[in-house]
Amino acid sequence: MGSDRIVLLSRREIDKMRQAGKLAAQLLDHLTPLVKPGVSTLELNDEAERWTQAHGAKSAPLGYPGAVMAFPKSICTSINNVICHGIPSAKEVLKDGDIINIDVTPIVDGYHGDTSRTFFVGTPSPVAKKLVEVTEECLRRGIAAVKPGGRVGDIGAAIQEYAEAEGFSVVRDFVGHGVNRVFHTPPQIPHYGVRGKGKKLRPGMVFTIEPMINEGSWEAEVLADGWTALTKDRKLSAQFEHTIAITQTGVEILTRRED
Ligand code: MF3
Ligand code: CO
Ligand code: CO
Repeated sequence: MGSDRIVLLSRREIDKMRQAGKLAAQLLDHLTPLVKPGVSTLELNDEAERWTQAHGAKSAPLGYPGAVMAFPKSICTSINNVICHGIPSAKEVLKDGDIINIDVTPIVDGYHGDTSRTFFVGTPSPVAKKLVEVTEECLRRGIAAVKPGGRVGDIGAAIQEYAEAEGFSVVRDFVGHGVNRVFHTPPQIPHYGVRGKGKKLRPGMVFTIEPMINEGSWEAEVLADGWTALTKDRKLSAQFEHTIAITQTGVEILTRRED
């Protein structure tokens, strides 16, 4: 079973992760124009699955083991008060004013590219707009806090400080993670914490940073399906995720969009 060791990837392995990360970013780009009122999350899922297969890749979420059941779809679609791991459904149709996080993880030649963005459906409310903008900036600040020789706590501290200063809260129950041939592997990357604390950041480490930021309280609740995580107070939640690699001198975003 999984070890608790943090593996450092070789240049060749990081090159594989770069290919997977690139396809993941392209998949989100491909889905972007489909995000509009009237589209169901199942339609987004099915197009993601079709496109992934057409590019010779596999969808890591499909059949991924869980406590209650394996994840039944190819992407996660998390609308409004859903924090993460929303399950695509024909019954769930996007409407004007929604926010939706789409989280994709294609496997390319055995390696995982894990990335997500939160999209506006039509015109967002002022608070939804601010939450999504703050969450994207949290990811940017988390990445900027990564330095070889630094600590895991530097990342969470940067995110938490900014999110809370903007009047929002940081989800505790879900964290970033090491990712390589294995989808979820050490280290855990909390999006809250204390600067200078936690494991040392070393060149060759590859992990995700994926802050989930709530409008109200940070508390989460998971539905009986074992996957759908929503805010306890049913207020909004947003998320952005990149897979990054630590280099000798800094950090490389493996799932960056092309533009
Ligand atoms: N992509 C998610 C993450 O960022 C994990 C989804 S697990 C699934 O870690 F089974 F729900 F797909
Ligand atoms: Co992830
Ligand atoms: Co993800």
